[in-house]
Amino acid sequence: MVERLSPTLKAVSDAVLAVAAGLSVDEVLQRLVDSARELVGARYAALGLPDGEGGFRRFLTSGMSERLVASLGPLPRQHGILGAMLDVRSPYRTQDIHEHPRFRGWWPAAHPDMHSFLGVPILEPPAVIGAFYLTEKLDATDFSDEDEELIGLLAAHAAIAIANARLHEQTRELSIVAERNRLALDLHDAVSQKLFGLVLSAEAAATLLERDPEAARGQVTKLQTLAQEALEELRSLVFELRPPELERDGLPGALRKHVELLRRLGQHELELVVDGEVPVDGTRDREVLRIAQEALQNALKHARASRVTVRLGAEEGRLLLEVEDNGVGFDPDAQEARGRSLGLTSMEERARRLGGTLAIVSTSGAGTTVRLELHDG
Ligand SMILES: Nc1ncnc2c1ncn2[C@@H]1O[C@H](COP(=O)(O)OP(=O)(O)O)[C@@H](O)[C@H]1O
Ligand SMILES: [Mg+2]
Repeated sequence: MVERLSPTLKAVSDAVLAVAAGLSVDEVLQRLVDSARELVGARYAALGLPDGEGGFRRFLTSGMSERLVASLGPLPRQHGILGAMLDVRSPYRTQDIHEHPRFRGWWPAAHPDMHSFLGVPILEPPAVIGAFYLTEKLDATDFSDEDEELIGLLAAHAAIAIANARLHEQTRELSIVAERNRLALDLHDAVSQKLFGLVLSAEAAATLLERDPEAARGQVTKLQTLAQEALEELRSLVFELRPPELERDGLPGALRKHVELLRRLGQHELELVVDGEVPVDGTRDREVLRIAQEALQNALKHARASRVTVRLGAEEGRLLLEVEDNGVGFDPDAQEARGRSLGLTSMEERARRLGGTLAIVSTSGAGTTVRLELHDG
């Protein structure tokens, strides 16, 4: 036992490290099943996680070529001995699977014949969350007590690794959800307000129609304006939701597309100036684009500006983004600018995450400049 303890420890620590390295659930499981097979010297190994509906959510194999796996067809159901391991809480070992009461007497086409078998459930008390299946012991006719013990140890750690890997994946999914929620809030703020106004105007127009046709006409004109504005905001927000094609267009290209879209939508004079070669950096470009989009949206939505200029400049490890409007200006530190909306705050947070600085310089009546500065390294 002692001389085999170290490969066990290695197998277990490999699995734990795989989780720490942020590998996907499938990658972690694959390491576990490979380790199990090597640990006891089996020709074949499998690891199955049930889906709770009589099938397997995941079923990974080791020792079978991809061609063989493909020729076996769809994932196995939990029939026969596979299912038996999910019903009991203790390991099962036999010299010949054919003699197991739940063996149906035949294999699916292309399935290799198997004799010696060791099955070990993976427990996350009180549930059985999976099982290790090992078959065809290589240098003996049967798996040993020691093999059973080793796989039992691996199964105890597999339970933790599986739970952790699941958590990792959920965390990743959550941060995507957070981003979507922010956009949903913007969408709600911008558009539902307009639509609400639209409904009110329509109601007013309907009431006034007979009594005061002139006033009704006024309400209908207002209705048209509101509907047009709602349409524009909705379009630009939907554009934001669509993933920008940064890999293809680069930051200057993606920014140009966005500016062109906004230009087509409104009556604003909008200019984009790009200076120098902007090196490609996927993560950074995505964040910088989001900052530019928010600053632009604010300038168009709040500033009542006649002119908005976007500047993107790169020189010697420095990246500069500026969005300048000649509108009404505001106090960026005032409470009312920091209400429940997160536009300003999220620009600042993105800048901080990138290790850069964001300055909002605004003078009442003389416009606003949002300035992002980033340095390499
Ligand atoms: N360029 C700008 N010109 C004038 N006011 C602005 C400008 N940018 C932001 N503001 C003011 O700051 C407030 C907060 O902006 P932000 O956090 O982006 O929220 P939102 O755009 O959803 O209102 C805005 O409601 C607006 O009053
Ligand atoms: Mg905003």
